[in-house]
Amino acid sequence: MSDVGVVMIDTLRSTHLITQLRYCYVTNMHSSLSVISERLEDASAKGLAHAVSRAVRDGALQPGARLPPIRALATHLGLSPTTVSAGWTLLARSGAIRTDGRRGTTIAGLQEPASGRYRRALERQLDFALDLSTGTPDPALLPNLGPALSELTTAGIPGTYLDDPVVPGLLDVLRAQWPYPPDELMVVDGAMDALDLVSRSMLRFGDRVIVEHPGFPPLLDLLESIGAEVVGVPVDSAGLCPEPLAAALTGAGTHTCAVFLQPRAQNPTGASMAGQRARELVPILARAGLPVIEDDSAGAVAAAVPISLGRWIPNQVIHIRSFSKSHGPDLRLAAMSGSGELLREVVHRRQLGQGWSSRLLQRVLLTLLTDPVAVADVDRARDEYTRRRVALVAALAARGVDVVGGDGLNLWVPVNDESAAIVRLARQGVGVTPGTPFDVLPGGGGHLRVTVGLVADGYESLADLLAAAANTSSWASHGR
Ligand SMILES: Cc1ncc(COP(=O)(O)O)c(C=O)c1O
Repeated sequence: MSDVGVVMIDTLRSTHLITQLRYCYVTNMHSSLSVISERLEDASAKGLAHAVSRAVRDGALQPGARLPPIRALATHLGLSPTTVSAGWTLLARSGAIRTDGRRGTTIAGLQEPASGRYRRALERQLDFALDLSTGTPDPALLPNLGPALSELTTAGIPGTYLDDPVVPGLLDVLRAQWPYPPDELMVVDGAMDALDLVSRSMLRFGDRVIVEHPGFPPLLDLLESIGAEVVGVPVDSAGLCPEPLAAALTGAGTHTCAVFLQPRAQNPTGASMAGQRARELVPILARAGLPVIEDDSAGAVAAAVPISLGRWIPNQVIHIRSFSKSHGPDLRLAAMSGSGELLREVVHRRQLGQGWSSRLLQRVLLTLLTDPVAVADVDRARDEYTRRRVALVAALAARGVDVVGGDGLNLWVPVNDESAAIVRLARQGVGVTPGTPFDVLPGGGGHLRVTVGLVADGYESLADLLAAAANTSSWASHGR
């Protein structure tokens, strides 16, 4: 048969296949439309969520079943697309449905976690001689809480539900240290609490949000659990890259609801946003007019000076500073600023939950931020983290492994083969975090996150192990 004949038959076959697939898609769509409408008792977001839950319970919608697009369902049920989207948000929060850009929205399996990047990042043996997989601060470099705790007194402090949510003295200190004059300042239970409150208050199911690539796995999990569509924009050594950001914001048919970024010591790359980069990002973000959520998780142990886009676009920025790395993860405290309007819904949601962060802990933090000994301890920790990073980066460079970035507790080490490198290091008693759970854009899979902040000495021998692991390929790791 001629080439033309073969091509014609192939074309006919694929046309037939496409027609069949379309038929299946339309049939499934119709059946899920009617399954939902038959069970809809109340034309509200909650009523819709109940209808889908009932259909799952009685087996009419099986795990993996694809749900109709929001507009099609809204038209079919005579609801507004906003109501359907709010119903999907409720279902996504309870883990009943999940969204996946290509496959659309589907019923989740019973045992299926909403998403698992964080879990995958933590999956490891627990008995490493040297565990550099944690991303946590060196306990030896945290300020001593003892004096601040022993000074704590409850005398003259009512500690009721009605007191100010932020201890007044702490508010003054935070304002003086903030990278721009904040409109409102809140204290919350850590940066993750802030990200959780902000995301759940501001985002709905199907909202498109821009995140850094690579990014922080718990944030990616959180956004995906809400049903947000996560779009990655690359980070280089100066922060979020302006051109891909502009392209992601202006692509056809795209409406983006928020941008999440880390202004300093980006986890995992260590990048801190340069002043020039901030000035390049500002006009792009100002034009888009959307909220920008900044997660300054390294806080006072970042070597770069505090920076926030809030200096230029205060009405768009929510800036979060964690005290976990600088003063101790178990203080569970972070501060968050934003305009009254941006934070209104966040404040409202918080009032429905924990209400405020323990003022006892806030007073401990206030002491640590003002006591000269504690301040000197944190300054020393910052310098020590810099020394550790510089030492390992230099030792790696001497072995031909170039690490970009350079702030905070972590290094983002390029490797030939991630799995082979992890297996090899594990056999040698060294734990590291795989890079893949941090990847948002395709084509990653070639990095390790190494918490160098925990390494006080022995850089040459550690660099030997890391460089050998970086050069390992899967076949070479067998039998070693
Ligand atoms: C980028 C980033 N955000 C948030 C957090 C969590 O901070 P917190 O302990 O204040 O909740 C971390 C912790 O490692 C982090 O790296």
